[in-house]
Amino acid sequence: EKDGYDWFMRKEIFEQPRAVADALLGRHDGDGLLQLDEVRISEDELREVDKIVIIGCGTANYAGLVAKYAIEHWTRIPCEVELAHEFRYRDPILTRNTLVVAISQSGETADTLMAIRYARQQKARVLAVCNTNGSTIPRESDAVIYTHAGPEIGVASTKGFLTQLIACYLLGLYLAQVRGTKFGDEIAAVVDELAKMPDHVQCLLDSAEQVYELARTYAGTRSVLFLGRHAGFPVALEGALKLKELAYIHAEGFAAGELKHGPIALIEEGLPVFCVMPPRGRDQLHDKMVSAIQEIRARGARTLVLVEEGDEEVTRYADELIRLPVVPTLLQPVVATVPLQLFACELATAMGHDVDQPRNLAKSVTVE
Ligand code: BG6
Repeated sequence: EKDGYDWFMRKEIFEQPRAVADALLGRHDGDGLLQLDEVRISEDELREVDKIVIIGCGTANYAGLVAKYAIEHWTRIPCEVELAHEFRYRDPILTRNTLVVAISQSGETADTLMAIRYARQQKARVLAVCNTNGSTIPRESDAVIYTHAGPEIGVASTKGFLTQLIACYLLGLYLAQVRGTKFGDEIAAVVDELAKMPDHVQCLLDSAEQVYELARTYAGTRSVLFLGRHAGFPVALEGALKLKELAYIHAEGFAAGELKHGPIALIEEGLPVFCVMPPRGRDQLHDKMVSAIQEIRARGARTLVLVEEGDEEVTRYADELIRLPVVPTLLQPVVATVPLQLFACELATAMGHDVDQPRNLAKSVTVE
């Protein structure tokens, strides 16, 4: 059942081109951009939404952080992202015009389930982004977008995450279409870019060996940092989470702009730091990230830079370069996450850990 792979996780990483294609399949037709799988929210109700709150735990929370950048940009609806277990204990402000988006691969995470029950009691509308048909969270939601990744067995989420991103992009575009905040051709242009994602992901997988070789050289390392900006910031968080979960290495993700406000004190000789370069289209962010990389390199860090093809500006400050396909900034997390998954999987393997069943973790946590 592992199809010749050593781990379900590795198999699931390599299934991502297909998973992403399935998540997009049939969602785009002549009349409307998104087919929600089950909907008890009308277009009129969606037009009245004045706030979105995205909840989830772990990797699902990071998918939510990416979604915020896209959904706010495309729809101009204020969007908050919150850990499901923090959400209902802080007396959140919810009305019937609040759309709560609950992201959960399993659909059974108790923290997320309790949060949506609370949200519905407060009359908010709840939309689930979920991978498991008929699971509890979609059953208790007003609408659901299934991510169609297929069963995910490895405890650390991979194809679950990428397809959650796709579902959230589609939701954002659908809301933009229903509310008229983007023209049809603008939406179609993003959909075209999304349609290229399976091929982009496949290209990254085809050069997995480069990342594997790199990972194996870090088997004894004690700490790894991850830096990103904008939509690359949640990618940094997700990269760090994968390393914690699988390799039991101290790993932290930071927004690169925050570096000078504290984390730069951690930089020391030889410390590996992954840096997710924003695409060149984002000039200001791009330049700022180049200076952040210079700063940490000057202090002796080893810079492992994820950067799009053709971007040579950062080359001389990079100890290692991992090339990414050229994609729009908001969609970059779909590609930038993949090398970080490969890195964590291979490093944990090299360290002799059980990648599919990391210590102390469960695939879905059904207690609060
Ligand atoms: C954690 C898993 O317990 O639950 C994570 O270890 C996962 O990998 C998180 O991201 C949320 O799970 P779900 O099923 O709600 O997406």
